Amino acid sequence: MKILALIGSPRKHSNCEAIVDEIAKGAEENGHEVIKYIIQDLDIAPCSGCELCRKGKDCRYTDDGTEIIDQLADGASVILASPIYFGQMSAQAKTIVDRFYSIFNNPNKSFSKDAKAAIVLTHAYPGDYDAYLQLTIAQPFQNNTEMEFIGAIDAGDLKFPGDVKDKPEILREAYELGKKF
Ligand SMILES: Cc1cc2nc3c(=O)[nH]c(=O)nc-3n(C[C@H](O)[C@H](O)[C@H](O)COP(=O)(O)O)c2cc1C
Repeated sequence: MKILALIGSPRKHSNCEAIVDEIAKGAEENGHEVIKYIIQDLDIAPCSGCELCRKGKDCRYTDDGTEIIDQLADGASVILASPIYFGQMSAQAKTIVDRFYSIFNNPNKSFSKDAKAAIVLTHAYPGDYDAYLQLTIAQPFQNNTEMEFIGAIDAGDLKFPGDVKDKPEILREAYELGKKF
């Protein structure tokens, strides 16, 4: 299985990336291929709401997001990892999530029901983001894609990049999540 790891942290050596690396370790040990995308380093236009996709056409944008969306429409699985910024996922993460609409809204495209999805949210304040996490699991994933949602890492108490290296329990949970792919 091909798994796209969409990393929405703009920071180098981010907690998101460290957690994704542990998920990838578990998944790769199960024979899967994990491709990492650092969204900050890519050229991805935000959805313009033109609804060309509703008419069965490809997204109006041909950019780095196209490569991600085409693979998802071709059956790839996904890990979405984002820090909480001002109470929600980062703008980088949301930009690619909004482009998922060009699959959901297109009568000629779909996510694969054989594909799997997982979420990572990193944040400084533990416990505050349960409702937001549940919302993000429901939409876009459970309500808007055919993929099987296999789990989330809700990683709180991480104030600075790299803090997760001192949280072996989170890294262990991430590795175990990777084994579910
Ligand atoms: C601009 C900005 C906004 C943030 N907003 C929040 C917030 O609303 N709630 C929170 O718990 N942490 C917040 N944080 C902390 C980050 O979510 C936290 O440091 C996280 O571990 C960063 O993950 P990363 O290393 O993957 O980027 C914010 C950090 C930044 C830089």
